[in-house]
Amino acid sequence: MTMALEKILDAFSGYLRHEIEEGRGRVDLDPATLNALRNPQPAAPPTPKQATSNAATVKTRDSMQAIARNVEACTRCELCKTRTRSVPGQGSQQPEIAFIGDGPGQDEDQQGQAFVGRAGELLTKMINAMGYTRDDVWIGNIVKCRPPNDRMPTDKEIETCIAHAKAQLAILQPKVIICLGATATKALLGTSLDITALRGQWQSYDGIDVMPTFHPELLLRDATSAETKQAKRNTWEDLQAVLKKLGRPLPVRGK
Ligand code: URA
Repeated sequence: MTMALEKILDAFSGYLRHEIEEGRGRVDLDPATLNALRNPQPAAPPTPKQATSNAATVKTRDSMQAIARNVEACTRCELCKTRTRSVPGQGSQQPEIAFIGDGPGQDEDQQGQAFVGRAGELLTKMINAMGYTRDDVWIGNIVKCRPPNDRMPTDKEIETCIAHAKAQLAILQPKVIICLGATATKALLGTSLDITALRGQWQSYDGIDVMPTFHPELLLRDATSAETKQAKRNTWEDLQAVLKKLGRPLPVRGK
């Protein structure tokens, strides 16, 4: 067993243990997933390297799908009563970068996808400006259901929900996590420091490099204000720092 598989196994068994401790003794598995979990090897004999990589990909996909199903069925907190759809998160199963926000808004609640509203449009531009597409990265939230009237999630809601996001990140093992805004940063890093102090400063979560930066919603405030302009400059600096860390070329802004 390679290191990557061990990590996936650790993350997933930890997640299942947490589910059992929370009193949920069952998970939904469709027959195809069950079969893939039982027989992770592809039919044609692969090279040893391909076999390891294929098995890891199948396990990652199936583990992520199992978490998504649990999120969809979750009734652990009051947010399940007001949601239209829960929002597990989506994107590449082998991402270099995972973006994580606080929680879904109205558009996300309707569509079941993270960052698809106005903030999502800006996030897409940020991702594209970095030289990636949305399919190249993973996009999710700390809290998986929309808080009513788009209020911030409470500490209790975060505490109840964060196991899902932590299990997803442990399985995906991105090279960098970009925390969007104060709530996601504080929740993931367990810090009380302000986002203005933390942004642009490399942090670490479970051995993964973390770059906290401003939330796209903040950047959508009054475009003429000096504060918003400064926040946009700062965010672009933070994204460039991520590209540098990943050894990626730094795109010229606006091209
Ligand atoms: N804001 C977030 O933090 N997440 C979303 O998915 C959308 C808006």
